Amino acid sequence: MFEKIESKDFLINPFQSIGRDWMLVTAGDETGGVNTLTACWGGLGDLWHKDAAFIFIRPSRYTYEFIEKMDTFSLSFFPGDCKSKLGYLGSHSGRDEDKIGKMGLHVEYFDGTPGFEEAELIIVCRKMYHLDFVGGRIPANEIERFYSNEDENDFHRFYAGEVTGLYRKKQ
Ligand SMILES: Cc1cc2nc3c(=O)[nH]c(=O)nc-3n(C[C@H](O)[C@H](O)[C@H](O)COP(=O)(O)O)c2cc1C
Repeated sequence: MFEKIESKDFLINPFQSIGRDWMLVTAGDETGGVNTLTACWGGLGDLWHKDAAFIFIRPSRYTYEFIEKMDTFSLSFFPGDCKSKLGYLGSHSGRDEDKIGKMGLHVEYFDGTPGFEEAELIIVCRKMYHLDFVGGRIPANEIERFYSNEDENDFHRFYAGEVTGLYRKKQ
C-alpha cells in the first residue's frame, strides 16, 4: 500500500538515490503494455515554477517508444536488496523478453501511470518538454565514453516532467 505525499515531505538525496542506487523509468498502459529501464542519469527540481523531474533516454531503448507514446512516465525507487534486479532491467531489453515478469516485479498503476508494487517510492510525471542532445555541444571525452562505436549518434533525449504525484510505501 502506498500513500500520496507532498513534495515538502519528500526527503531523498538525488545524488545517492538516482546516481548511485538507480531508479526505474516506466511508461505505458494496460492496452499497449508497459516497459521499463534502469536509469542513473536524471534530476529533481523545478521548471516553470512546477515540481519537476529530468531524465535522459537514448532513442534506441524500447522504453523510449513508450515514453514517446504516452503523456506520463514514472520514476520508481527500490530498497537496496532489489539492486541486482535493476542491474538486469538495465542490461536486457523488453523487446526481447518479459524482463519485468522475469524479475518478479508487479506493475501497479498510480493515477493511471505504471510503477511497481515492490518500489518504496514512486514519482509520477507528466511530460512538459523534451530536447535532443547535440553531438557538437558534448565534451569530447564524454563523446568518447558514451557516444562511440555502436552508440554513435544515439544521443539521449532529455525530458522534463512535471511531478504530478509522489507515493511512498506505507510502513
Ligand atoms: C545503472 C544503469 C543506468 C542506466 N541509465 C540509463 C539512462 O539514464 N538512460 C538510458 O537511456 N539508459 C540507461 N541505462 C541503460 C538501459 O537501462 C538499458 O539499455 C536497458 O536494457 C534498456 O531497456 P529497454 O530496451 O527495455 O528499454 C542504464 C543502465 C544501467 C545498468
